[in-house]
Amino acid sequence: MARKAATPDARDPASIGPDELNETEAAAELARLAALLARLGRAYHGGDAPEVDDAEYDALVRRNEAIERRFPDLVRADTPSARVGAAPEGGFAKHAHLVPMLSLDNVFDRAEFEAFAARARRFLGLKDEADTRLRFVAEPKIDGLSISLTYQDGRFIGGATRGDGTTGEDVTENLRTLRGLPERLSGDAPGLIEIRGEVFLRKADFLALNQHQAEAGQRLFANPRNAAAGALRQLDASVTAARPLSLFAYAQGRSSEPVADTHSDYLDRLRGWGFSVNPLSQVLESAEAAERFQADLALQRSSLEYDIDGVVYKIDDLGLQERLGFVGRAPRWAVAWKFPAEQAITRLEEIRIQVGRTGALTPVAVLEPVNVGGVLVTRATLHNADEIARKDVRPGDRVQLQRAGDVIPQILGRVPEEGVERGEPYVFPDHCPACGSKAVRAEGEVVVRCTGGLVCPAQTVERLIHLVSRPAFDIDGLGDKSIQEFHEAGLIRTPADIFRLRPEDLEGREGWKETSINRLMRAIEAARTIPLARFIFGLGIRRIGETNARLLARHYGSYAAWREQMQAATTVGSDERLALGSISRVGTAIADELATFFAEAHNRAALDELAGLLTIEDEVAPESAALAGKTIVFTGTLTTMTRPEAKAMAERLGAKVTDSVSQKTDLVVLGTDAGSKAKKAAALGIATLDEAGWRELAGVAE
Ligand code: IVH
Repeated sequence: MARKAATPDARDPASIGPDELNETEAAAELARLAALLARLGRAYHGGDAPEVDDAEYDALVRRNEAIERRFPDLVRADTPSARVGAAPEGGFAKHAHLVPMLSLDNVFDRAEFEAFAARARRFLGLKDEADTRLRFVAEPKIDGLSISLTYQDGRFIGGATRGDGTTGEDVTENLRTLRGLPERLSGDAPGLIEIRGEVFLRKADFLALNQHQAEAGQRLFANPRNAAAGALRQLDASVTAARPLSLFAYAQGRSSEPVADTHSDYLDRLRGWGFSVNPLSQVLESAEAAERFQADLALQRSSLEYDIDGVVYKIDDLGLQERLGFVGRAPRWAVAWKFPAEQAITRLEEIRIQVGRTGALTPVAVLEPVNVGGVLVTRATLHNADEIARKDVRPGDRVQLQRAGDVIPQILGRVPEEGVERGEPYVFPDHCPACGSKAVRAEGEVVVRCTGGLVCPAQTVERLIHLVSRPAFDIDGLGDKSIQEFHEAGLIRTPADIFRLRPEDLEGREGWKETSINRLMRAIEAARTIPLARFIFGLGIRRIGETNARLLARHYGSYAAWREQMQAATTVGSDERLALGSISRVGTAIADELATFFAEAHNRAALDELAGLLTIEDEVAPESAALAGKTIVFTGTLTTMTRPEAKAMAERLGAKVTDSVSQKTDLVVLGTDAGSKAKKAAALGIATLDEAGWRELAGVAE
């Protein structure tokens, strides 16, 4: 069973700005973003229910790009920057696009638009604006799904979704149900042509569909885009036919012969062949004109029959488009200028604190209900304590909020009111509202966290799941779901409760039979004896991942010693605290986390209760047998540890460290620029290791 193994070893890269990440954190963050964006992409392109709104998705994409710009060497093979959409999921046949279907880069203001135009100009070697004017075609950016239609000798032979940009799903039969799709192109058409466009549902059709769904007692769609996606991906084309999808054609893929010199002429050809092309498209000559177009369309937006989320600007000259080509997932000749999110003003009634599963205290604004772009909003996020202080919003204030897509709205700031007495400035709580433990904010962090890790009901389930996970207590048969279930039933509230579980507690529970109960009981019994390192890791203390837990276990040796020293280390400036912080690679930040955990009486009580039910094995370095009685020589420069540190490490593992290589030497560890000693080792046939090999042998390889 796959269980989450939290490794709270380091600061959380996800909460650090792209400019402040170090290289290790950046690598971890790029990995996280790749996985997250892949998942969100699948939900967006394949499923019907988006997890985040467009603005949040865009923000993640930009964050990924910013990190990649700073650390070009860390760009991953599976970088989201090079991926479009999601691979087909099965169910439909695959369709390979003859020319890839790409995505568009976004801009959000005039300066960014001008930067886009300047980049294109520079790429083409065009001097200044007066010299060669770039003409753009502006088209409303339809919030639907892009599709590719293939016509052979003027006849529609197949159509597919974008998929991952290279391969999509063959949805030909569903596309045939579209009213705006010509089966045959009228007039002259090339032998083979791929035509691209957007499939969407008109707002009125969406409302009618949802009404129908409601009457039939079926699930409602979140927005027209999701409804269109669901309709297009129906395996039964008659279901698609019942949902009136529309189409606007707007681009070309492969064509066996050129059909136009400019994009605007191409749009006319599309019209001539019988496609519907957005009537609001216009040819523009400057950034000022684009800005005006943007503003005009924003005003018309709510009265349009379909959802749009911005304007696409394409360089009109197809010859220039060809020269500009693509970079990564997007063309250099087009850009999407997105609309800002919709805003409204209302009253902030109350600031409530939510405690997340990791103990983070998050302020939530409770609002006087207000309609923002057709959605009734009653809650908004305030992010964190700094954000509240910076905006100086107080309960009772009038506030401006913003909503984009289906996301949680955000509070932008306060709207001053004359002659109105304001409430007191908001004071962020220093205790957890869920369990009463102290809430603290570590230096350099924005998040205030509850310290009641083991006892806080808001965190318990996640902590328990961590506790039973494979690298910790490894209790097979106690999965995420059972933990959740037993927690709800009141059977497991604290870690100790796991070891007090009796067979009769489970008898009669759904899904639990004698064999599974016995198996679980045996697994719990087996976990009752546990090595110190796993025990420490299992507690789920922030920053104490497997590596740090092992370091602590090795250093303190026994549970009793560790427990006693940690309690003493809660006193700032005590010898024990200093000793803890100076353990190699532990450091003060980790020492602070441990001290915070031990300073909380609730945690100590839960810990003692748990320890009382267990046999916690002293830490004996598992590698000691290999090094006991061995003689080691270190030579050259070590880059990840000092020489004294390496020596201490070897000695802890039972070895003797000497300076010169002789017949008696068992192992020579070679740092960089190892000289005569390396040669001597080779001559005598003595085993050697490089630094990485040594770290691995010593059990400190990360
Ligand atoms: S052109 C290589 N034109 O926006 C350029 N796309 O963010 C390909 N979209 O995948 C796209 N309206 O689904 C283009 N008038 C328009 C569009 C449009 C909506 C969508 C399309 C595309 C996405 C890119």
